[in-house]
Amino acid sequence: MEITDFYGAPAEGKEYHVNWDPASAEKGGFPSFMEKEIHDQPDAVLQTLLGRSDINGKLTLDELRVDPELLKNVDKIIVLACGTSAYAGQVAKYAIEHWCRIPTEVELSHEFRYRDPIVDENTLIVSISQSGETMDTLMAVRYAKEQGAKTVSICNTNGSTIPRESDAVLYTHAGPEIAVASTKAFLAQITAAYLLGLYLAQLRGNKFQGEIKDILADLNKIPAKIQQILDNEAQIKELGQSMADAKSVLFLGRHVGFPVAMEGALKLKELAYIHAEGFAAGELKHGPIALIEEGQPVFVVVPSPRGRDSLHAKVVSNIQEVRARGAKTIVIAEEGDEAVKAYAEHVFYIPETPTLLAPLLSTVPLQIFALALASAKGYDVDQPRNLAKSVTVE
Ligand code: M6R
Repeated sequence: MEITDFYGAPAEGKEYHVNWDPASAEKGGFPSFMEKEIHDQPDAVLQTLLGRSDINGKLTLDELRVDPELLKNVDKIIVLACGTSAYAGQVAKYAIEHWCRIPTEVELSHEFRYRDPIVDENTLIVSISQSGETMDTLMAVRYAKEQGAKTVSICNTNGSTIPRESDAVLYTHAGPEIAVASTKAFLAQITAAYLLGLYLAQLRGNKFQGEIKDILADLNKIPAKIQQILDNEAQIKELGQSMADAKSVLFLGRHVGFPVAMEGALKLKELAYIHAEGFAAGELKHGPIALIEEGQPVFVVVPSPRGRDSLHAKVVSNIQEVRARGAKTIVIAEEGDEAVKAYAEHVFYIPETPTLLAPLLSTVPLQIFALALASAKGYDVDQPRNLAKSVTVE
């Protein structure tokens, strides 16, 4: 191996340890990388959590080398990302604002730079990128640094450009993601962003240590719960296969379920090349409900009935509204939620979990659905048309 600069002159290299093994870059008996990566998800979340807290629930993010005093003074967080990574950021916004009480914006990297954003030395930029090479995000991070902001990268690729150019990095340990459609990186990004949020809450004293410990304990239960969903994937797979003729599928969600709905729609667009849209369920009556006609498939991501009751009741009433107009309703709900049954053509149950952690579970059936539907159409799920794994041009 020879390391040179752009003009061919010998240059100094910097060593990075990449702890991916060759087996993790193979299909492992699955028909596609995407299917394998969906099944890697319990491990992706587990590895991302591993070694980041002690037995007392104290977060020890050693690699996050930003002066704690600077982090204490942060008065605004801006999450920068594109595509699926931006949806991970949108999920994380709910948790970070709730736990840390720091105003948090999520901005598509390519929109950020061109709107004259208000960024200063008390702004914390959190970029999220699986590849660490997305040019839009890299340029946005560079711009924010020029304005004096502190930059933290959440990234899955050791030594890639975005973490190298950021002040600090929190790696997701999802292993190599080869399929163009992002799956395990998404869950690992949410997990890492949650760790960052809890770390900030710990540092700034927004949460008692015991509360942080409880949330970490719930996070540690997530891998087994994802596995439970994967063990029962046959029902959602069959539905996906049976819907190969669908022309359009709508997704509704509320609170953290809203970005999950958008991610479900993106998976379907990318893989099955059909029109799919994710909406905030509360927005339905402000326009999207006009799209509902006889037989229109609508996925609804329902919040836990154990959470804020008004939210659950409101989403159940949304299911009712679309069903009454002829929609074919497909519901993702928490185990034991009987209220949704009356209005759902299909119900997929996910294990009980606190509301903020639910996206780590509710996304999984949507990934399986998109994979099954696209496979039934005979499409290459690993290499969808017109898309590249890493978008290195603006
Ligand atoms: O590597 P990045 O996370 O920066 O990539 C961002 C998007 O290009 C990526 O998430 C894209 O939307 C995926 N194909 C979604 O499945």
